[in-house]
Amino acid sequence: MIGLGTVGAGVVQLLNQQRKLTLKKIAVRSLEKPRRIELRCPISANVSDLIDDPEIEILIEVMGGEHPALEYIEAALERRKHVVTANKEVLAKHGPALFEKARRQGVTIFFEAAVAGGIPLISTMHKGLEAIQISSVIGILNGTTNFILSKMEESSLSYEAALAQAQKLGIAEADPASDVDGHDVAYKLSILSALAFGQFVQPASIPKQGITNIGPDALAHAKELGYRVKLLGICRKVNERDNKSYLDVRVQPMFVPVNHPLAAVSASKNGILVRSDAVDEIILVGPGAGQMPTASAVVGDLINLASALQLPDFASYFHYDIAPQWAQLADKDDFVCPFYLRLSVANLPGVIGRIGTTFGAHDISINTILQHGVHNDHAKVVILTQAVRNGNLHRALQELSQSDYVKGVEECVGIFEPAYENA
Ligand SMILES: NC(=O)c1ccc[n+]([C@@H]2O[C@H](COP(=O)([O-])OP(=O)(O)OC[C@H]3O[C@@H](n4cnc5c(N)ncnc54)[C@H](OP(=O)(O)O)[C@@H]3O)[C@@H](O)[C@H]2O)c1
Repeated sequence: MIGLGTVGAGVVQLLNQQRKLTLKKIAVRSLEKPRRIELRCPISANVSDLIDDPEIEILIEVMGGEHPALEYIEAALERRKHVVTANKEVLAKHGPALFEKARRQGVTIFFEAAVAGGIPLISTMHKGLEAIQISSVIGILNGTTNFILSKMEESSLSYEAALAQAQKLGIAEADPASDVDGHDVAYKLSILSALAFGQFVQPASIPKQGITNIGPDALAHAKELGYRVKLLGICRKVNERDNKSYLDVRVQPMFVPVNHPLAAVSASKNGILVRSDAVDEIILVGPGAGQMPTASAVVGDLINLASALQLPDFASYFHYDIAPQWAQLADKDDFVCPFYLRLSVANLPGVIGRIGTTFGAHDISINTILQHGVHNDHAKVVILTQAVRNGNLHRALQELSQSDYVKGVEECVGIFEPAYENA
């Protein structure tokens, strides 16, 4: 095993409780660090002690980061070792080449811990739902942002105060960028796309909107209107005009109706909704991270892999049907949903009418429009649109921002309507 941090120490604890599997060696960065767990195998600061050991059949990679984790995984596959990894970043960025290498070498990569930690999502999608065609996977895939948004809503906290609480509890990292800007969810969506639709998506190409601009006003309005704000990862197959299918993959905060099961996924939990024609909807909810939930996913993979090692040519059974090319994404301007908007406008007669005219010119119908108070020379206007094309909305907002009567677009959040996400 490479790595003996949060997850690695949990794996050691679980393996110490059983007798079937033996850890042969552990590699770490620093031998000086005190380890507060019982270790029953040698520990080394030299990864090649593991990679070059011909007796080792399975490499567990729980060190994290892109490099040198990628090179270690590649070296293990080249030496025909199976790999169990929790590393979403490496899989999302290098999945096509890694799975192709594993296939050529006749070995497998297990990665239950890489997405939604303690929830058995990967095995459910890979084996449990193997017979059906998945049409969409939509979920709350990041516990840190879900905790922050839940705290902001429950305790009327600012984003900064809720983040500080998450950091104090060890739920958010000192540098929270990967979580709050949506990169972590994008890695997970890339992996889920590979499982659901047979192709990884380049994480850099996934449209991402994080939660740093969500303010208490949006959360209060959401509550007033019967919604909760959740950071959603969305991955759907869509058929475009030329009869080709593309993937609509995006990360965005959305207003979720309070009576939808995803709205009830609170604190640092994850929740994933998998949709297919044959099974309709299934929803999985549970801890998406944390030491023991993640370690249990790693050890679960090890147990599966170790039992399979008894069978001849088992690797083909675990083979993932993943293409070596990256998926093609649908045009992000084309996705359709209703929106919540908050504008700061000049306090002048006729402004609401002019906003309506601009929206009309871009084919946008308004559902509700409310004026929330007047401060000096400007007023706050909250608008709920009907379902609109993302591209039309952004063109209309750009035009409004350049006008002399709209001072600024303070918030623009999509509204999750299952009917549009399933279309
Ligand atoms: N923590 C979670 O809840 C969670 C949940 C899901 C997935 N994951 C994934 O699990 C992986 C591990 O996360 P973690 O939280 O356990 O990380 P961590 O606590 O930072 O531990 C990293 C471990 O890797 C070792 N390491 C780092 N660079 C190394 C190198 N170049 N050579 C050898 N060892 C090296 C470190 O050694 P030293 O101890 O000597 O510094 C440390 O033991 C990551 O991919 C992460 O995304 C974590």
